[in-house]
Amino acid sequence: MVHALVFDSGVGGLSVVQELRALIPDIYITYVADDEFRPYGTKTEAQLQARLPELLQTLVFAVQPDILLIACNTASTTALKQIRNTVDIPVIGVVPAIKPAAQMSKAKAIAVLGTPGTVRRKYVGKLIRDFASDCQVVLHGSTGLVELAEQKLSGQILNPFALKAEVEPMFRDVNIDTIVLACTHFPLLLDELKQAAPYAVNWIDSGYAIAKRTQTIAGKMEIKSRPTYPQTALLVGGVYNRERAKMFATFGFEKTVCL
Ligand code: DGL
Repeated sequence: MVHALVFDSGVGGLSVVQELRALIPDIYITYVADDEFRPYGTKTEAQLQARLPELLQTLVFAVQPDILLIACNTASTTALKQIRNTVDIPVIGVVPAIKPAAQMSKAKAIAVLGTPGTVRRKYVGKLIRDFASDCQVVLHGSTGLVELAEQKLSGQILNPFALKAEVEPMFRDVNIDTIVLACTHFPLLLDELKQAAPYAVNWIDSGYAIAKRTQTIAGKMEIKSRPTYPQTALLVGGVYNRERAKMFATFGFEKTVCL
Protein backbone atom coordinates (compact mmCIF):
# COMPACT_ATOMS: atom_id res chain seq x y z
CA MET A 1 0.00 0.00 0.00
CA VAL A 2 1.46 3.33 -1.07
CA HIS A 3 2.18 6.09 1.46
CA ALA A 4 1.57 9.52 -0.08
CA LEU A 5 2.51 12.83 1.47
CA VAL A 6 -0.15 15.29 0.25
CA PHE A 7 0.83 18.94 0.62
CA ASP A 8 -1.09 22.22 0.24
CA SER A 9 -1.17 25.66 1.84
CA GLY A 10 -4.36 24.66 3.67
CA VAL A 11 -7.36 22.39 3.24
CA GLY A 12 -7.39 22.61 -0.58
CA GLY A 13 -5.44 19.38 -0.99
CA LEU A 14 -8.39 17.56 0.57
CA SER A 15 -10.15 17.84 -2.80
CA VAL A 16 -7.29 15.68 -4.12
CA VAL A 17 -7.42 13.37 -1.06
CA GLN A 18 -11.07 12.66 -1.89
CA GLU A 19 -10.15 11.49 -5.39
CA LEU A 20 -7.17 9.48 -4.11
CA ARG A 21 -9.26 7.60 -1.54
CA ALA A 22 -11.97 6.88 -4.13
CA LEU A 23 -9.50 5.46 -6.65
CA ILE A 24 -6.95 3.83 -4.31
CA PRO A 25 -8.98 2.75 -1.26
CA ASP A 26 -6.00 1.28 0.63
CA ILE A 27 -3.78 4.36 0.22
CA TYR A 28 -2.06 5.66 3.38
CA ILE A 29 -1.86 9.46 3.46
CA THR A 30 0.01 11.95 5.58
CA TYR A 31 -1.45 15.41 4.95
CA VAL A 32 0.44 18.65 5.48
CA ALA A 33 -1.19 22.12 5.44
CA ASP A 34 1.16 25.11 5.47
CA ASP A 35 -1.20 27.31 7.49
CA GLU A 36 1.63 29.58 8.49
CA PHE A 37 2.32 30.83 4.95
CA ARG A 38 -1.19 30.78 3.44
CA PRO A 39 -2.39 32.28 1.18
CA TYR A 40 0.20 31.23 -1.39
CA GLY A 41 -1.71 33.05 -4.12
CA THR A 42 -0.55 36.48 -2.99
CA LYS A 43 3.12 35.49 -2.49
CA THR A 44 5.80 36.21 -5.07
CA GLU A 45 7.52 33.46 -7.04
CA ALA A 46 10.73 34.24 -5.16
CA GLN A 47 9.02 33.85 -1.78
CA LEU A 48 7.53 30.48 -2.71
CA GLN A 49 10.75 29.27 -4.31
CA ALA A 50 12.64 30.21 -1.15
CA ARG A 51 10.25 28.40 1.19
CA LEU A 52 8.92 25.30 -0.53
CA PRO A 53 11.96 23.20 -1.56
CA GLU A 54 13.48 23.31 1.91
CA LEU A 55 10.19 22.76 3.73
CA LEU A 56 9.31 19.80 1.55
CA GLN A 57 12.76 18.29 1.80
CA THR A 58 12.43 18.37 5.60
CA LEU A 59 8.92 16.94 5.51
CA VAL A 60 9.91 14.10 3.19
CA PHE A 61 12.87 13.29 5.43
CA ALA A 62 10.68 13.26 8.55
CA VAL A 63 7.61 11.51 7.12
CA GLN A 64 9.37 9.02 4.78
CA PRO A 65 6.55 8.73 2.21
CA ASP A 66 6.81 6.73 -1.04
CA ILE A 67 5.49 9.60 -3.12
CA LEU A 68 4.96 13.36 -2.75
CA LEU A 69 1.89 15.14 -4.10
CA ILE A 70 1.98 18.90 -4.35
CA ALA A 71 -1.80 19.32 -4.19
CA CYS A 72 -1.58 23.04 -4.89
CA ASN A 73 -1.66 24.74 -8.28
CA THR A 74 0.12 27.83 -7.00
CA ALA A 75 3.05 25.84 -5.62
CA SER A 76 3.19 23.44 -8.59
CA THR A 77 3.21 26.17 -11.24
CA THR A 78 5.92 28.04 -9.31
CA ALA A 79 8.32 25.62 -7.66
CA LEU A 80 7.78 22.07 -8.89
CA LYS A 81 11.20 21.85 -10.55
CA GLN A 82 12.98 23.16 -7.45
CA ILE A 83 11.06 20.74 -5.20
CA ARG A 84 11.90 17.79 -7.49
CA ASN A 85 15.57 18.73 -7.27
CA THR A 86 15.59 18.47 -3.47
CA VAL A 87 13.84 15.14 -2.85
CA ASP A 88 14.63 11.64 -4.08
CA ILE A 89 11.08 10.26 -4.38
CA PRO A 90 8.55 10.76 -7.21
CA VAL A 91 6.83 14.16 -7.07
CA ILE A 92 3.43 14.78 -8.67
CA GLY A 93 2.17 18.33 -9.14
CA VAL A 94 -1.27 19.75 -9.91
CA VAL A 95 -1.61 21.98 -12.93
CA PRO A 96 -4.75 23.65 -14.29
CA ALA A 97 -6.89 21.40 -16.54
CA ILE A 98 -6.78 23.84 -19.47
CA LYS A 99 -6.48 21.21 -22.22
CA PRO A 100 -9.68 19.25 -21.33
CA ALA A 101 -11.53 22.53 -20.73
CA ALA A 102 -10.63 23.84 -24.20
CA GLN A 103 -11.70 20.53 -25.74
CA MET A 104 -15.01 20.56 -23.86
CA SER A 105 -15.95 24.18 -24.56
CA LYS A 106 -18.53 24.50 -27.34
CA ALA A 107 -18.49 28.31 -27.16
CA LYS A 108 -14.67 28.22 -27.37
CA ALA A 109 -14.66 30.53 -24.37
CA ILE A 110 -13.30 29.33 -21.04
CA ALA A 111 -12.20 30.80 -17.72
CA VAL A 112 -9.26 29.84 -15.55
CA LEU A 113 -10.31 30.42 -11.94
CA GLY A 114 -7.23 30.20 -9.75
CA THR A 115 -5.29 32.20 -7.20
CA PRO A 116 -3.93 35.60 -8.32
CA GLY A 117 -0.48 33.97 -8.46
CA THR A 118 -1.48 30.99 -10.60
CA VAL A 119 -3.36 32.95 -13.25
CA ARG A 120 -0.27 35.19 -13.73
CA ARG A 121 2.29 32.37 -14.04
CA LYS A 122 4.22 31.90 -17.29
CA TYR A 123 3.48 28.19 -17.01
CA VAL A 124 -0.25 28.87 -17.32
CA GLY A 125 0.34 31.21 -20.26
CA LYS A 126 2.15 28.39 -22.02
CA LEU A 127 -0.66 25.89 -21.33
CA ILE A 128 -3.10 28.37 -22.88
CA ARG A 129 -0.89 28.90 -25.95
CA ASP A 130 -0.35 25.16 -26.38
CA PHE A 131 -3.85 23.85 -25.72
CA ALA A 132 -6.41 26.67 -25.85
CA SER A 133 -5.24 28.87 -28.70
CA ASP A 134 -8.67 28.46 -30.35
CA CYS A 135 -10.46 29.78 -27.23
CA GLN A 136 -11.08 33.10 -25.59
CA VAL A 137 -9.62 32.70 -22.12
CA VAL A 138 -10.67 34.74 -19.09
CA LEU A 139 -8.08 34.69 -16.30
CA HIS A 140 -9.66 35.24 -12.91
CA GLY A 141 -7.69 35.24 -9.67
CA SER A 142 -9.35 35.07 -6.26
CA THR A 143 -7.92 34.88 -2.76
CA GLY A 144 -11.34 35.41 -1.20
CA LEU A 145 -12.50 31.99 -2.40
CA VAL A 146 -9.48 30.34 -0.72
CA GLU A 147 -10.51 31.93 2.57
CA LEU A 148 -14.15 30.93 2.02
CA ALA A 149 -13.13 27.28 1.46
CA GLU A 150 -11.09 27.39 4.67
CA GLN A 151 -14.10 28.81 6.51
CA LYS A 152 -16.45 26.18 5.10
CA LEU A 153 -14.17 23.35 6.22
CA SER A 154 -13.85 24.91 9.68
CA GLY A 155 -17.62 24.52 10.00
CA GLN A 156 -18.51 28.19 9.45
CA ILE A 157 -21.58 29.33 7.55
CA LEU A 158 -20.58 31.10 4.35
CA ASN A 159 -21.83 34.47 3.23
CA PRO A 160 -23.36 33.78 -0.23
CA PHE A 161 -22.97 37.45 -1.21
CA ALA A 162 -19.24 37.34 -0.52
CA LEU A 163 -18.93 34.26 -2.72
CA LYS A 164 -21.01 35.77 -5.52
CA ALA A 165 -18.87 38.91 -5.45
CA GLU A 166 -15.76 36.78 -5.96
CA VAL A 167 -17.04 35.08 -9.12
CA GLU A 168 -19.26 37.69 -10.78
CA PRO A 169 -16.51 39.61 -12.65
CA MET A 170 -15.52 36.39 -14.41
CA PHE A 171 -18.84 36.33 -16.29
CA ARG A 172 -18.91 40.02 -17.15
CA ASP A 173 -17.35 40.34 -20.61
CA VAL A 174 -17.21 36.91 -22.27
CA ASN A 175 -19.87 34.20 -22.56
CA ILE A 176 -17.75 31.43 -21.06
CA ASP A 177 -19.22 27.91 -20.93
CA THR A 178 -16.40 26.06 -19.13
CA ILE A 179 -14.45 26.95 -16.00
CA VAL A 180 -11.14 25.44 -14.92
CA LEU A 181 -10.92 25.19 -11.13
CA ALA A 182 -7.21 26.01 -11.03
CA CYS A 183 -6.90 26.02 -7.24
CA THR A 184 -7.40 22.88 -5.17
CA HIS A 185 -9.48 24.80 -2.63
CA PHE A 186 -12.18 25.53 -5.21
CA PRO A 187 -13.68 22.04 -5.83
CA LEU A 188 -14.54 22.13 -2.10
CA LEU A 189 -16.90 25.03 -2.96
CA LEU A 190 -18.40 23.49 -6.08
CA ASP A 191 -22.02 23.53 -4.85
CA GLU A 192 -21.71 27.17 -3.79
CA LEU A 193 -19.97 28.13 -7.05
CA LYS A 194 -22.74 26.53 -9.11
CA GLN A 195 -25.28 28.56 -7.20
CA ALA A 196 -23.34 31.77 -7.64
CA ALA A 197 -22.92 31.36 -11.42
CA PRO A 198 -25.47 33.34 -13.46
CA TYR A 199 -26.04 30.33 -15.78
CA ALA A 200 -24.97 26.68 -15.99
CA VAL A 201 -21.39 26.01 -17.07
CA ASN A 202 -18.97 23.03 -17.05
CA TRP A 203 -16.59 22.96 -14.07
CA ILE A 204 -13.32 21.06 -14.47
CA ASP A 205 -10.61 20.28 -11.94
CA SER A 206 -7.48 18.13 -11.93
CA GLY A 207 -8.27 15.92 -8.90
CA TYR A 208 -9.12 12.71 -10.76
CA ALA A 209 -6.18 13.07 -13.16
CA ILE A 210 -3.79 13.41 -10.20
CA ALA A 211 -5.25 10.35 -8.49
CA LYS A 212 -4.90 8.36 -11.72
CA ARG A 213 -1.29 9.45 -12.13
CA THR A 214 -0.57 8.48 -8.50
CA GLN A 215 -2.07 5.05 -9.10
CA THR A 216 0.08 4.52 -12.21
CA ILE A 217 3.31 5.61 -10.53
CA ALA A 218 2.57 3.68 -7.32
CA GLY A 219 1.90 0.57 -9.39
CA LYS A 220 5.44 0.67 -10.77
CA MET A 221 7.23 1.39 -7.47
CA GLU A 222 8.69 -0.66 -4.73
CA ILE A 223 6.57 0.36 -1.73
CA LYS A 224 7.97 0.68 1.81
CA SER A 225 6.07 -1.09 4.58
CA ARG A 226 2.94 0.68 5.82
CA PRO A 227 3.48 2.93 8.81
CA THR A 228 1.81 1.61 11.97
CA TYR A 229 0.94 5.16 13.06
CA PRO A 230 -2.62 6.47 12.36
CA GLN A 231 -3.02 8.61 9.25
CA THR A 232 -2.33 12.16 10.34
CA ALA A 233 -2.89 15.74 9.22
CA LEU A 234 0.01 18.02 10.17
CA LEU A 235 -0.65 21.75 10.30
CA VAL A 236 2.49 23.87 9.90
CA GLY A 237 2.14 26.80 12.30
CA GLY A 238 -1.55 25.97 12.63
CA VAL A 239 -3.70 26.61 15.63
CA TYR A 240 -5.56 23.58 16.95
CA ASN A 241 -9.26 23.85 16.31
CA ARG A 242 -11.68 21.06 17.19
CA GLU A 243 -13.97 21.70 14.24
CA ARG A 244 -11.04 21.42 11.87
CA ALA A 245 -9.83 18.17 13.48
CA LYS A 246 -13.35 16.73 13.11
CA MET A 247 -13.37 17.77 9.47
CA PHE A 248 -9.96 16.13 8.81
CA ALA A 249 -11.33 12.94 10.40
CA THR A 250 -14.08 12.85 7.76
CA PHE A 251 -11.29 12.70 5.13
CA GLY A 252 -9.71 9.69 6.87
CA PHE A 253 -7.20 11.42 9.18
CA GLU A 254 -7.44 10.01 12.68
CA LYS A 255 -5.08 12.59 14.13
CA THR A 256 -4.60 16.32 13.55
CA VAL A 257 -1.41 17.78 14.95
CA CYS A 258 -0.05 21.34 14.85
CA LEU A 259 3.65 21.68 14.13
N1 DGL B 1 -4.79 25.48 -2.83
C1 DGL B 1 -3.87 26.30 -3.46
C2 DGL B 1 -3.85 26.17 -4.96
O1 DGL B 1 -4.21 25.15 -5.50
C3 DGL B 1 -3.43 27.62 -2.92
C4 DGL B 1 -4.31 28.50 -2.10
C5 DGL B 1 -3.54 29.67 -1.51
O2 DGL B 1 -2.89 29.43 -0.49
O3 DGL B 1 -3.57 30.76 -2.07
O4 DGL B 1 -3.44 27.07 -5.66
